[in-house]
Amino acid sequence: MTAIQGTALVTGASGGIGQAIARALAARGAHVVLTGRRADVLEPLAQELRGRALAIDLAERDAPERLVEQAGEVELLVANAALPATALLDDFSVTEVDRALDVNLRAPIVLAKLLGAQMAARGHGHLVFISSLSGRAASPRGSLYSATKFGLRGFALALRQDLRPAGVGVSTVFPGFVSGAGMWVNAGARLPRFVGTRSPEQVAAAVVHAVERNRAEVDVAPVGLRVGAVIAGLAPELSARVSRLLGDERIAEQMAEGHRGNR
Ligand SMILES: NC(=O)c1ccc[n+]([C@@H]2O[C@H](COP(=O)([O-])OP(=O)(O)OC[C@H]3O[C@@H](n4cnc5c(N)ncnc54)[C@H](OP(=O)(O)O)[C@@H]3O)[C@@H](O)[C@H]2O)c1
Repeated sequence: MTAIQGTALVTGASGGIGQAIARALAARGAHVVLTGRRADVLEPLAQELRGRALAIDLAERDAPERLVEQAGEVELLVANAALPATALLDDFSVTEVDRALDVNLRAPIVLAKLLGAQMAARGHGHLVFISSLSGRAASPRGSLYSATKFGLRGFALALRQDLRPAGVGVSTVFPGFVSGAGMWVNAGARLPRFVGTRSPEQVAAAVVHAVERNRAEVDVAPVGLRVGAVIAGLAPELSARVSRLLGDERIAEQMAEGHRGNR
């Protein structure tokens, strides 16, 4: 097991995937700083991992700045916090649209700006963004979520080029459907039998791999979904037609219904 040095700041560490990422990084020697809104989940986890818990609502305008101030010197950022933001655009209030953009896209960008500058000055560090296969392929009721997840992809790919000369790595991780814990499970939606899932621990292993190998992008999904995402990138209209035949409308409806109270 290769060590990951220094402090790792993990956003969304109270969630299903964030907890697994925090455990994986702590197991590799990182000092973890865990953030989310639920202090009652963060604090026992931080105690168990000998890290620190900072409860902050990333939808607040100055939250990323406050988080950076309180976190101290950070060697690794894992920008993982997100809202599911899955529904017809018409069903979101403008306040809800703003909140999803703030948590899923603005906060990672501002955190990367502040922490990336510090890392560049030191000549090392790594920024990891947790996107989604919805950041490669669009699906029904995913307009807002995909806007944030596609957005992270473009942001990270460009930033990687800018920070490379300074010795700072930038990676994006793209999970498909994640079983066991997390926003997909919480929605209570059902997948057709032929669609496979991955565990939060596999997403965490992908984060470690991305940092240790300085990978630009890592997908965490069965091969069928990964191929589907590539085809969706090349031929989105064809991909949407095939997905409709496979029942993606029904899955999207269940997802939106399951997250009605979490916007
Ligand atoms: N689960 C999947 O199938 C799946 C698939 C692809 C990609 N992803 C991505 O994986 C990442 C983690 O998702 P998950 O499945 O672990 O979801 P989750 O269990 O719902 O966790 C979401 C995390 O984001 C935090 N968060 C939400 N709103 C926040 C806010 N306003 N301020 C601060 N923190 C906030 C939550 O903190 P509190 O609960 O404490 O507020 C929680 O820790 C997300 O980026 C998601 O888009 C997930």
